[in-house]
Amino acid sequence: MATTIEMHKLADNLQICRILNGMWQVSGSHGSINMMTALNEMIKYHDCGFTSWDMADIYGPAEMLFGRFNDVLASRNDVETTKLTGLTKFVPHPVTMTKRLVENAVRRSLQRMHVSILDLIQFHWWDYQNSSYLDALRHLDDLKHAGLLRHLGLTNFDTQRMQEISDAGLRFVSNQVQYSILDQRPAVQMEQFCKKNKVGLLAYGTLAGGFFSEKYLGRPEPSWSDLNTASLQKYKHIIDVWGGWDLFQQLLRTLSIIAKKHGVSIANVATRYILDKPHVSGVIIGARLGISEHITDNAKTFDFQLNPDDQAQIDEFSALSNNLFDLIGDCGDEYRN
Ligand SMILES: NC(=O)c1ccc[n+]([C@@H]2O[C@H](COP(=O)([O-])OP(=O)(O)OC[C@H]3O[C@@H](n4cnc5c(N)ncnc54)[C@H](OP(=O)(O)O)[C@@H]3O)[C@@H](O)[C@H]2O)c1
Repeated sequence: MATTIEMHKLADNLQICRILNGMWQVSGSHGSINMMTALNEMIKYHDCGFTSWDMADIYGPAEMLFGRFNDVLASRNDVETTKLTGLTKFVPHPVTMTKRLVENAVRRSLQRMHVSILDLIQFHWWDYQNSSYLDALRHLDDLKHAGLLRHLGLTNFDTQRMQEISDAGLRFVSNQVQYSILDQRPAVQMEQFCKKNKVGLLAYGTLAGGFFSEKYLGRPEPSWSDLNTASLQKYKHIIDVWGGWDLFQQLLRTLSIIAKKHGVSIANVATRYILDKPHVSGVIIGARLGISEHITDNAKTFDFQLNPDDQAQIDEFSALSNNLFDLIGDCGDEYRN
């Protein structure tokens, strides 16, 4: 591949690819994964320059797979190994967050991922009524100072709590949130916070589980039983709330025209659009390792630019669709009561 993969310095000692490989897709709810095949696929991604992986303690075998992959790279003993970055998450039940509980979780991730320090741990919290999230973050901060992790990040936190955490003197470098042409809630308030506090956004849902592709262009509305991954089910709901299937088809047609003009795919246009948003450090694209693969196509995202006219045509759909911020709330509110 001739493409130069865009990289981004998320924080000191943490350089990431601007397209990260998402590992929710190995958790079991997106098709069954063969570990050996998946491992070989990871090598392919890495050798094509896609060297950053996003996982979580709750994504089934993801951290263990990363650990085995890490060993494979170490045994190759080549310079590319140093580029590998593994971002994980800590997604506990919303119970009292003791130091011991948090430290055990971090040590479990270290052990599974076969690393001596975590590049980034992204913390998720299900229930703001329980303010123990501040305790968890304080413990994580202590573990950072103790050398168990390089950086602290958040996932699915809203702007109000980002401010609260920041006011408590806790430094985090990123917030991982849903950000796509359909879901532009991060632009409402969070973007401003990120600007002021030098926090990067890591976007997921940018391809709406694969809906942003030629595969769905001109297709009738799928029934629930057609949706064979948890990801497609999640984002079909977003399409419904956003404005429904007919409007989505109009959007796909517009994206297809823009894509053809640039000689790229609908997925490339959808990804580029979000990569160009302020404070977006990277877009995470789900990888169904050993089931499907879009490496060469996704690399093309780095080979073209959207011009202001392309962007304006896409922006027009925000006026035609529903406002997700009004309907759902700020980022991540869909995960909380
Ligand atoms: N923090 C959170 O709460 C949270 C929530 C969701 C996701 N995430 C993270 O984000 C990652 C992405 O997951 P997602 O659910 O948002 O999925 P997504 O990235 O929107 O969609 C992934 C799917 O898009 C399709 N695809 C990828 N590249 C394509 C291309 N070039 N052309 C056509 N289709 C393409 C593939 O579908 P096929 O396999 O069918 O070809 C792939 O499985 C996850 O793995 C996870 O790391 C985080």
